[in-house]
Amino acid sequence: MTTEIQNIQWFPGHMAKTRRLIKESLPLIDAVAEILDARIPLSSRNPEILQLTNRKPRIILLNKCDMAAEHATRKWIEYYKKQGITALPVDCKTGKGLDRFLSAVKELLRDKLKAYQAKGVKNKKLRIMVLGIPNSGKSSFINRMNKNKGAKVENRPGVTRSNQWYTIDKTVEMLDTPGVLWPKFEDPVVGQRLAFTGAVRDSIIDIETLALELLGILSSQYKNELCGRYGLSEDAAGTPDEWLKAIGRKRGNLIPGGEVDTERTAVMLMEEFRGGKIGRITLELP
Ligand code: G4P
Repeated sequence: MTTEIQNIQWFPGHMAKTRRLIKESLPLIDAVAEILDARIPLSSRNPEILQLTNRKPRIILLNKCDMAAEHATRKWIEYYKKQGITALPVDCKTGKGLDRFLSAVKELLRDKLKAYQAKGVKNKKLRIMVLGIPNSGKSSFINRMNKNKGAKVENRPGVTRSNQWYTIDKTVEMLDTPGVLWPKFEDPVVGQRLAFTGAVRDSIIDIETLALELLGILSSQYKNELCGRYGLSEDAAGTPDEWLKAIGRKRGNLIPGGEVDTERTAVMLMEEFRGGKIGRITLELP
């Protein structure tokens, strides 16, 4: 029951602190890189991001795209493109897609770069604030991009001492999220989807209930992947409960007497889903 996200839920002071820290850092940054989980781009967002960042130029990173459905990721990229926002599909675990990040930043801030050049300003760096809710892959992203391994901690005017700046290349620096960014807690659907992906571990939702809810979605929207993973035929089951039992039976998850151990099966299913083993699955479309 003790997850980072749930803890914050009980201490609204965290949100006020993050709001304040972000606001204090805004004058120091040129743009924002927002990291979303490509499987749940809506639920993995902070609901106040535009307000918080005062509409600074933005790049979206659709992270964990290795586990998201390709057609859905394409839809998301298109959706953001229509709003004039660049969204890059990335996999921070392997680094795939990250080679496009720097050029995207420079393109986003090309007017600023030109202005620096026109004024003959040298050594001025572009500064990007990285924002992402816990488990979005923010640390993985920063670790991959950071050229000076080992964090560069600086004390700059007007900012908390703990602000972490990372050198990305000669012209770009990144600032880690000041404070902890929160998702939209108050929405139960958001809570459920964060629990599906493991962003909220040991959820207050019982694991078996969670698995049944996930099976409700998978058996209607990702039946091929579900059947493929567990070697079941499409008509193997109807209700989520029947799917859970069919999967448990296939995997030999039985209790003495021959009944399916539904709890063990639920734990296994959730682990496999979170590890991307069932297939590339996106739970939210634009
Ligand atoms: P955070 O700082 O935003 O909290 O996230 P972090 O980078 O710690 O990543 C959370 C989990 O997501 C980690 O897994 C990490 O390896 C995984 N992850 C991050 N980016 C990607 C990605 O693009 N694809 C995939 N498949 N996974 C990604 P973990 O199980 O918590 O840790 P570990 O087992 O990798 O050590």
